[in-house]
Order: sequence, then C-alpha cells, then structure tokens
Amino acid sequence: MVATDVDRQKLAQLRGGHVPFYEPGLEELVRQGLATGRLRFTSEWVRVAQGPAVVFICVGTPPRETGEANLLAVERAAEMLARHATRPMVVVEKSTVPAGTATRIAETLARHNGKVEFAVVSNPEFLREGSAVEDSLHPSRILVGSDSPNALATMRELYAPLREAGSSWVETDVRTAELAKHACNAFLSMKISYANALARVCELAGADVLAVADAMGSDDRIGRSYLDAGLGYGGYCFPKDLEAFRRLAARLGYDFGLLEEVARINDQAVQWTFRKVQEVLWNLEEKRVALLGLAFKPGTDDTRLSPALALAEQLLRAGAVVVGYDPEAGGNAKSDVPDMDVVGDVYAALDGAHCAVICTGWEEFGRLDLPRARRIMAFPIVIDGRNILDREAMARERFTYLPTGRPPVRPWSAS
Ligand code: UGA
Repeated sequence: MVATDVDRQKLAQLRGGHVPFYEPGLEELVRQGLATGRLRFTSEWVRVAQGPAVVFICVGTPPRETGEANLLAVERAAEMLARHATRPMVVVEKSTVPAGTATRIAETLARHNGKVEFAVVSNPEFLREGSAVEDSLHPSRILVGSDSPNALATMRELYAPLREAGSSWVETDVRTAELAKHACNAFLSMKISYANALARVCELAGADVLAVADAMGSDDRIGRSYLDAGLGYGGYCFPKDLEAFRRLAARLGYDFGLLEEVARINDQAVQWTFRKVQEVLWNLEEKRVALLGLAFKPGTDDTRLSPALALAEQLLRAGAVVVGYDPEAGGNAKSDVPDMDVVGDVYAALDGAHCAVICTGWEEFGRLDLPRARRIMAFPIVIDGRNILDREAMARERFTYLPTGRPPVRPWSAS
C-alpha cells in the first residue's frame, strides 16, 4: 500500500513511524506496515497513480462559511490522479462528501485524462476516533456504492478478508452510499440531542435520565447507544456533517428543519451546564473552575469543536479563572483557548477550585480519589457533564453534586 499527502512534514513524520495525533494502536500498525514493507509513504504522485488499481481519496472536507462541505481538496486529489494515471483505475471516495460528489469526481478525472478508464466508488467510513483501528479492522458493515459492476467486483475482492471475518456487506448505487453516510451521522446526532432534551425535562421533573435511557434502550427498536446525555456532541464529524446534510437537502429543495433543531439542542447543552456553574457559584469573577476533560470525547487528543472548549470560553468571558486538564488533549486545548490554564494532572486542576466540571468521560475521572479531591478543592462542588461519577459516593463524601438529567446531591441545602 502506498500513501501520499500534500503536507510533506506529515509524510516525513509518518515515514519515521510517527502518527501526528493520538489514536490508540495506530502507531504500532503504521510501524508494522513500514517494517514489513507493505506500507509506504511518498510525495510522488506517479507512484500513487501508476501503481495500484484502487485509489482511496481520504482528504478533509471542512465546512465552508455557509456550512456546506468544502470539496476543493477532493477535486485537487482527483485532478492529480488523472494527470498521472496511465492504466484503468477504481477511484474510491472515502472522504465524507455530499451526494452527487462522485459525478463531479468522474467529470474531473475525464476532463484531465481522456485516455484512461476510471470508475468511481463511494465507500463511506464509519470508524470512530479513539477506536479507529478496531473499527477499521472489524467494521460492523462495509458500504460500497458504484454504478459500475466491474468496480463493485473489485471492491468485493479487496474487502474479501473482512467480509469473511464477519463484517456485513452492503452494495448500492453511488449516490445512495454517499447519502447514507450523512444520514448515519445526522441520525446519531439526533439521538444524542433527544437524550439531551430529555435530560432537561428529567431535571425539571425530578426524574433520572440514565434510567429513562436504559428503559428506552432495552427496546430493540430504539437501542441504548448514543442516548447518553451530557455536554453534547462535538468533534469534526457530527457538527459539520449535520450542517452539510441540511445544506445539501436545502440545495436540493427540501427544508430538513429537524436537523436545525438537533444542532440547537446541542448548543443548549453547553449553555445549560454554564448556567449550572453560574447558579451554584453565584458571581463568577475570580472563581476558579476546573474543567476535567478537554477533548471532544475520551480516547483522543482531538479538541475540534469540543463542547469543553465552548464552555471554557463562556466561563472566561464571564470572568472566571478556568483551569483545564486532559490526559491527552492538553496541548491542543491550550493552543485553541490560550487564556485557559492547562495543567498536567487532575489534582493540580482541582487544587483550590471552587467548582469542577467533568466535560469528557475519560475513565480516570470515574476513579477520582474523592476524599483527596474534597480536601484540596476550595468548595466541594462537582458538575458532572458526562454522568460518570457515582451519586451515592458523592453524597457520602458530602459533595454538592450536579449530574446531567439526574437528581442532584446538595448536602448544604439538605442539612
Ligand atoms: C462519528 C461516528 O460515530 C462514526 O461512525 C463516523 O465514522 C465518524 O463520526 C465520522 O464521520 O468520521 P466520532 O466523531 O469519532 O465518530 O465520535 P463518536 O464516538 O460518534 O462521538 C461523537 C460525539 O458524540 C462525541 O462528542 C461524544 O462525546 C458524543 N456522544 C456520543 C454523546 O454526547 N452521547 C452519546 O451517547 C454518544
């Protein structure tokens, strides 16, 4: 396998066996590939375009200001492939793109190279950050869409080992596969927003959102996953894909208003947590707020569109002193929000804090030494934005404990 990128520094790092971000198990895999010679990184397009019969385009599709996906990198990759290709090739869209992009790719390839026969395939990626290796090697399903029977046959052959290992195989036309990717991410975002709206009602009604989600999830038609209420979804997939999907629908002539509401509820999740900090601390000026977890989810150092950072910015604007800690994402968070103090240890973050907010559900926060935390905090107040702490234990240690969508523990007002 041969891989390329426009970023030469990244290529040099990868050639040296270093992955430029944190992803469990990926570096080992890259090193294995390099050592066995099965994986090579190159800056020469000729090697990419003239060697393999199947080429995956995996470039980024960031949002434009309008919310639509910016597909410039996809076009450039297709153009470079076409310029250098000398024999028939299956070009696979791995990047998340709006339905209709494959047609554009096919046009681009043909415009820049009328001699070679290209077939375009959509093969959306469903891996999650933090479990990318496992998700790639053992995907629950593989979705492949193309209008070319020969290209579909090539893809079947390519994926034979994973299919034989039990991954289900779904074949469609190219537009359907493209659209299914957006539909999946938008639907999962919708489930999370449903759980978050439910959490608001549970707090007002004195009910427990975790128990409600469990009751809902035990119905196979609903399923328990993606019903965890909290600070909301972030990262570089759900927020941008939801918006890109809504824009695509609007461009095609359908107002998918449901998706707008999903995004609104997600923004509200951060706002709701901010208001809890305000309510419990009264004036925020000079109060020290510890944010535990800065990545958009556990298992990654990715802070892009992290709800934790949105909360940090609001707290800073309100005059609070914000101290953040994350096992992996501290460096990224500090460059995103320079006014936040970032420390390298959870107890350093809690030291002298008037309130702690759990923003990312890293396992280590579930194992906090509660008596120690209580001793070093200025006020023993914890807002659990991911519902990972044990309510009874928090009550025993006489913390003021405000989970999300669950009954709070307030030792002061109870006594
Ligand atoms: C997501 C999809 O799950 C993948 O299938 C898809 O391939 C990927 O986007 C992509 O399009 O590239 P990812 O963004 O890595 O994967 O992360 P998820 O584990 O899905 O979590 C997304 C966000 O939802 C996180 O901020 C997480 O904390 C939040 N979340 C998740 C909740 O707030 N509640 C839940 O119950 C589940």
